[in-house]
Amino acid sequence: MRIDLTDPAAYAAGQPYDQFRWLQDNDPVHWHELPGDEAGYFALTRYADLKALEGDYVTFSNEPNATLFDVNSMGDERHKMMLYTDPPRHTEHRRFLGVELSPKSVKAFAAKVDRVADDVIDEIIENGECDLVADVGGKLASYVTADMMGLPRELLVELYVLSEEINNSKSLSEGQGLEAMMKMGAHSQAIFDSRRAEPRDDMVTQMVHGEYAGCPVDAMQFGIDFILIVNAGGDTTRNVVGGGMQALFEHPDQRAKLLADPSLIPSAVDEMLRWVSPIVYQRRTATADTMIHDQEIKRGTKIAGYYGAANRDPRAFPNPDTFDVERKPNAHVAFGFGPHFCLGSHLARQELIIMFRQLLKRMPDLEPTSPAVWALPPGVAPTVVGPRTMPVKFTPGPQLAA
Ligand code: HEM
Repeated sequence: MRIDLTDPAAYAAGQPYDQFRWLQDNDPVHWHELPGDEAGYFALTRYADLKALEGDYVTFSNEPNATLFDVNSMGDERHKMMLYTDPPRHTEHRRFLGVELSPKSVKAFAAKVDRVADDVIDEIIENGECDLVADVGGKLASYVTADMMGLPRELLVELYVLSEEINNSKSLSEGQGLEAMMKMGAHSQAIFDSRRAEPRDDMVTQMVHGEYAGCPVDAMQFGIDFILIVNAGGDTTRNVVGGGMQALFEHPDQRAKLLADPSLIPSAVDEMLRWVSPIVYQRRTATADTMIHDQEIKRGTKIAGYYGAANRDPRAFPNPDTFDVERKPNAHVAFGFGPHFCLGSHLARQELIIMFRQLLKRMPDLEPTSPAVWALPPGVAPTVVGPRTMPVKFTPGPQLAA
């Protein structure tokens, strides 16, 4: 089998599950070259190996960054992207950023997410058609992040387009990636300045006036934290709305179960997360010479764990290629594993449960009008995968607000 996990064509309609399965069975610690001068990496595709990698931060570090390309590192010795650090620094940083994303805060925020879901559907319900990705998934993620942070919803819609460009640019130091980073930086600087001058009762004010690792937050650190939060919660959640709905279209029996018994929606959302696995991989770097199975790994070598592969590993999931809204247990790793386990997992789950509940209730006859498009612009292998447009129609209904 030809293996190239960085070939954009392999992600044109989803993830390269045929390659993943071959690697799991034949070469679970696969050496993968990268183009140009960029050093290659080992690709891990088995569930247990991914967990061992992400669970051992002493041997497998998140520094200098968690993407395959070193050029994407960010900040300096003092200013760091949390996702690109290890404990103990990471622990303190995570505690600081995690206040609004804790289970308790997210529970308290549920009524607001309900309102966002109502508003998003109200904007399209009278039209009888929409693009489920941009008009529903994208707006859900943007509006929730906006309301949570205390920023205008239109701004987050704009930032989410930038964040998608950032997530899917090969380099952040040139071309489209750099341009998107510059625009994002200009927004974060303006927000920093405004909350410094005029504090409010919101999450960005807490971030701007915060302190951790013995340092007050400055404009540069705020910018890095801001990009992390905006990027992390945008196209990930959006893609599970689109990819999850596509799974329901393709499995009408599973959809019928949810329509008949909405109490299955939370378990269906976990199955959608397993099924879509929107983050393709995360990388770690060996801090010492070590072994994975019988493969020698030299200090400084990159290793990437593929979530979509792990989530369909037959060693971990019976009938992994079956979409089952009642799957139990379902210990998927779509949110990662170990110290960097997704900080927004409670919020993301809540958003998805509320949105699918409302979609099934208010648009029960939703159906595609043409096939969803998954492919990115030519030349780009995605780090976040999912449908990019999904035209749908439904019987128009009344706005709740009306
Ligand atoms: C379906 C939606 C989402 C998925 C699938 C997802 C997935 C992930 C994954 C795989 C990681 C890396 C985990 C690791 O390395 O072990 C991560 C990290 C992170 N996610 Fe999410 N995420 C989602 C939504 C969100 C949301 C809504 C937010 C916040 C608003 C968020 C904030 C973060 C942050 C801050 C990190 C870094 C955590 C750390 O370094 O400690 N995510 N996410």
